[in-house]
Amino acid sequence: MSLLDTPLSRDAGIAVPVICGAMYPCSNPELVAAVSDAGGIGIVQPISLTYVHGHEFREGLRLIRRLTPKPVGMNALIEASSRRYHERMVEWVSIALEEGIRFFITSLGNPRWVCERVHAAGGRVYHDVTERKWALKGKDAGADGLIAVNRRAGGHAGPKDAERLVEALGDLGLPLVCAGGIGDAEEFVAALRMGYAGVQMGTRFIATPECRASAAYKQAILDADESDIVLSERITGVPVAVINTPYIQRMGLKAGPLARWMLRGHRTKHWMRTFYALKSIWQLKRSSLEEHGAKEYWQAGKSVAGIGSLEPAGSIVARFRDAALALPPG
Ligand SMILES: Cc1cc2nc3c(=O)[nH]c(=O)nc-3n(C[C@H](O)[C@H](O)[C@H](O)COP(=O)(O)O)c2cc1C
Repeated sequence: MSLLDTPLSRDAGIAVPVICGAMYPCSNPELVAAVSDAGGIGIVQPISLTYVHGHEFREGLRLIRRLTPKPVGMNALIEASSRRYHERMVEWVSIALEEGIRFFITSLGNPRWVCERVHAAGGRVYHDVTERKWALKGKDAGADGLIAVNRRAGGHAGPKDAERLVEALGDLGLPLVCAGGIGDAEEFVAALRMGYAGVQMGTRFIATPECRASAAYKQAILDADESDIVLSERITGVPVAVINTPYIQRMGLKAGPLARWMLRGHRTKHWMRTFYALKSIWQLKRSSLEEHGAKEYWQAGKSVAGIGSLEPAGSIVARFRDAALALPPG
């Protein structure tokens, strides 16, 4: 049996167990389609598709479908602090199912309602987790697999490293996907050897011609080393991995005292989260697309260390596939 034949490959219907993770604001239709077309699976980030890249949701999915006949997935962020946002997400999941999407990745919150709908349509749901308590909640809600987000990830990183996460989650009987720190083919193969059913990558896929992020952002990923990645609370109120640009250095990494106080309060924390969500949606959109912005909020993970050149998304997937096939199974 090939190293590439894993529960993730079977659940998602793909040849290479590589996921291009949802990225606000970097998931554009061309990138999602290119990863799927090469045999991995690209994940649609609905707010990125609509607000950043300007596609009406269903039309955006149809555009991706015109670019590739292969499976694509969708990310459902299911944090329930805003009723309007929740209703919008329910509608997006329904449209995605109508348009033939059968692989979903849920983040935050309880994925039960997504699992129920997706299972009824014969699809699969993998749930993003950073710790065992969230994994247990996801399993109880019906998740078919877990995306284990480790401390090297771009976006909201977890507290544990990849080895510890396998130890902490390995007995749950669900396929585990390694998210964080995978920048080259050796790291992909090492993750499969560690017992992971596949990998989810974000940062590596930003440094591709298909990604619509600015050339300056891509170059910063190529130039950055592991020590240039820092965790900032100033964007969303919880730590986000970013490149330590002069702007980030000027801003500092901690949330201000008022924001911290409001995030602790029972009632004020919802306002604060909403404020952060709106502010970060706007700021991240602007700084990912602008070539000469003075405010560079460039999200990236420690996988920058293994990323040396711009490379088409399809050739990354092919290179990873070939590295796994070159090894004897076992
Ligand atoms: C720019 C950027 C934006 C991201 N946005 C999201 C998001 O909107 N939703 C989500 O579930 N994960 C998000 N992530 C996490 C990725 O899906 C993935 O898990 C992570 O990038 C893996 O780590 P890596 O960057 O080291 O490959 C984001 C990551 C990056 C780098």
